[in-house]
Amino acid sequence: MLFNVFSALALGVMVRASPAPAPLSDLEALTGRATPLAQVITKCTVPNTVALTFDDGPEEYIYNISRQLIAAGAKGTFFWNGYNYGCIYDEINVKRVKFAYAQGHMVASHTWDHKDLTKLTFDEIHDEFYRVELAFERLLGVKPAFLRPPYGNYNNLVRQVAAQRGQKLVTWDFDSGDSTGSTPAQSDAAYDALIKRHPSNILALNHEVYKNTAEIVLPHAIKELKKAGYKLVTVAECVGLRPYQSITFPKNMMNSVPTLGRLPNGKCARDAASSQSALILSTVQSPSVPAETLREIFMYCMAGNTGDLNPTNDPLALRRVSTTWRDIIDSMPCLWSTITITPSQILPQNVQAIKEWLGRSGTTFFLDISIHAPPDFPNLDLLAAILTEFMPTCRRWKNLTLCVPTELLPMLLSNPDAPLPALESLKLAMDHQPQFTIDSSATCLRSISLLALYP
Ligand SMILES: *[C@@H]1O[C@H](CO)[C@@H](O)[C@H](O)[C@H]1NC(C)=O
Ligand SMILES: *[C@@H]1O[C@H](CO)[C@@H](O)[C@H](O)[C@H]1NC(C)=O
Ligand SMILES: [Zn+2]
Repeated sequence: MLFNVFSALALGVMVRASPAPAPLSDLEALTGRATPLAQVITKCTVPNTVALTFDDGPEEYIYNISRQLIAAGAKGTFFWNGYNYGCIYDEINVKRVKFAYAQGHMVASHTWDHKDLTKLTFDEIHDEFYRVELAFERLLGVKPAFLRPPYGNYNNLVRQVAAQRGQKLVTWDFDSGDSTGSTPAQSDAAYDALIKRHPSNILALNHEVYKNTAEIVLPHAIKELKKAGYKLVTVAECVGLRPYQSITFPKNMMNSVPTLGRLPNGKCARDAASSQSALILSTVQSPSVPAETLREIFMYCMAGNTGDLNPTNDPLALRRVSTTWRDIIDSMPCLWSTITITPSQILPQNVQAIKEWLGRSGTTFFLDISIHAPPDFPNLDLLAAILTEFMPTCRRWKNLTLCVPTELLPMLLSNPDAPLPALESLKLAMDHQPQFTIDSSATCLRSISLLALYP
């Protein structure tokens, strides 16, 4: 049935070039507060230690690598992706993940997709962290405390996100060269030269995904490092920190992952929703916020959320609430996850207010968005500017009600730069035949209602 509706919508090519989503780039600008930056670990600190690290798995060589390390009385550190060579939820990878963790190696995040984080928006960076955290919690019950940014690339935005998510960034001070074209002989020689210099400690980059690394370079490295008297430890041990933010039991996979298997890039994120709603409940019921205060906050920013952006109020009148309230409000992104914009609120001064609102909505909460403008709304540029503020949050759009001039819809619904992996329900009003298609396979769409205002 869904697809019938879509075939009615699938009527040709996009009518407009879609503007690239504006990066929601600076949390500080949004909140007016200094944002902490995560520590970047570039080397070990404990003397005489070597942390051998292995990136880009889980992969098949993990068993061989682990056996060698254990036989040498050593522990390694595995920086895993969620979806790189394979998907971490694939049965074969679930086994590898559980095996390596059970052997006592340290496991850490290498992001979901192995993208260059410096090219992503604030929301997208959070998403890259979040999906791996979710996988670790489901499969192992641990919350990672360290993340290696792909290619070693990071900026302050990445460090802000890492700090918010309780993770330190880890790079390296020695690269075996296995991912950049070194032959095993060259990697062996690089290890030999390093060991000859005998630094106090070593943070070594290797990759779990190469047979030669596992079967030729690693045996040589382990032998020579041990001969030189180094202790082979995890990254956490070589810097004297704890390996995880928390350790509990793995969540029951069958309960928490309705579709056991892939959660691939750009595909339906619905299974994340169940854990989100639990999160929302527990936040709202948090005993540290008096129920009375909560009710007031709700009246202020939820029940009356159409009023907050009303021209007769200051945009976001919340600026006037006391700082205590503001702290509480800022710490509750769920309060900001529903936004309704009425025709009278489509004003230039509300563009910034909407941006702030979206900034407060956090990064993992799904958004319910309703935008109402008459089909003949005169100022299309202003409306487009408002819609552009929404674009960086597109991965979190869940329920969308759009009563906007039809020519603005492709930018929101058929934009190759704006995936809609969480989109679940869509209500559209259109004043003429749509000239774009929606790729429903990349969404969670379950319901569409269409109000056609054309003959
Ligand atoms: C790792 O694999 C190689 C090649 O198959 C094998 O010779 C070696 O014994 C393996 N090492 C361990 C510890 O299993
Ligand atoms: C979002 O849509 C779903 C499914 O259509 C519905 O059950 C849910 O109540 C909606 N949420 C809100 C806040 O409107
Ligand atoms: Zn990598």
